[in-house]
Amino acid sequence: MNDIRIAVADGVMTITLDRPAKKNAITDAMYGAMAAAFRQAAGDAAIRAVLIEGEGPDFCAGNDIGMFAASAQGDFDLAASNTDPFLTALSTCPKPLVAAVTGRAIGIGTTMLLHCDLVYVADDAQLATPFIDLGLVPEAASARLMPARIGHVRAFGLFALGDRISGAEAVALGIANRALPAAEVRAAASEAARILAGKPASALAATKALMRDDMAIAAALAADRDAFLAQLTTHEAAAAFAAFAARKTGTP
Ligand code: COA
Repeated sequence: MNDIRIAVADGVMTITLDRPAKKNAITDAMYGAMAAAFRQAAGDAAIRAVLIEGEGPDFCAGNDIGMFAASAQGDFDLAASNTDPFLTALSTCPKPLVAAVTGRAIGIGTTMLLHCDLVYVADDAQLATPFIDLGLVPEAASARLMPARIGHVRAFGLFALGDRISGAEAVALGIANRALPAAEVRAAASEAARILAGKPASALAATKALMRDDMAIAAALAADRDAFLAQLTTHEAAAAFAAFAARKTGTP
């Protein structure tokens, strides 16, 4: 589909967010295409690893805020959207997931990394999860996974203060494996995916399953989703979406 490219070669499925004019912000159709791709990868023995990357300088500017705004106005049913199928397919994919992150990784651009198995970032990448500034709560099970990964106070700083993390900091915090010059990130991630594709597949799948608590993650996903949907209808969220829409025009 437009905005998502899927390619399979040498045992690796590459999913490319391909909406660079919007910093690869993710629409409902893009969530749907990615959910289908993860399900395909899960069911196809010939796909041994999945690489996730973004077209252009930025990995992903998060969920498309227009979709949030439409949902807040009752014009779009987020609860029935492709978001949940995407998060389920992402979080339960038995194949190893490798991410190549350059530029900005905001919102789901960062929280999806918590479901990946290897993460390569640019030195000058900027990771941020400013949910509270948007009048929202953390999504994608990140309310549990982020503090578990980096500790409560750092996670709270990300969520509540909108702190930004550089690539080097992401490595120090355990969110990423390696920070590299931006021009080298895709090649490093691609090489890692290629190596994984050559490993004993069942041992890899069993190891990944042992390392992740699927039931706890499913419960955390559901808790985040319920709180997120409730928060979406608040005045706080509506004001934040309006501010984003008006930021260039200066419209109050
Ligand atoms: N949803 C929808 N559109 C988005 C978007 C998003 N999350 N992020 C960026 N875009 C669009 C912008 O509206 C702009 O579109 P336009 O050219 O038609 O006006 C285009 O992408 C480029 O973004 P712009 O803001 O001009 O680039 P920038 O370099 O000045 O800033 C960001 C980049 C990512 C810092 C800024 O766009 C931003 O803060 N985006 C929102 C991030 C966010 O809060 N995501 C949700 C987290 S839950």
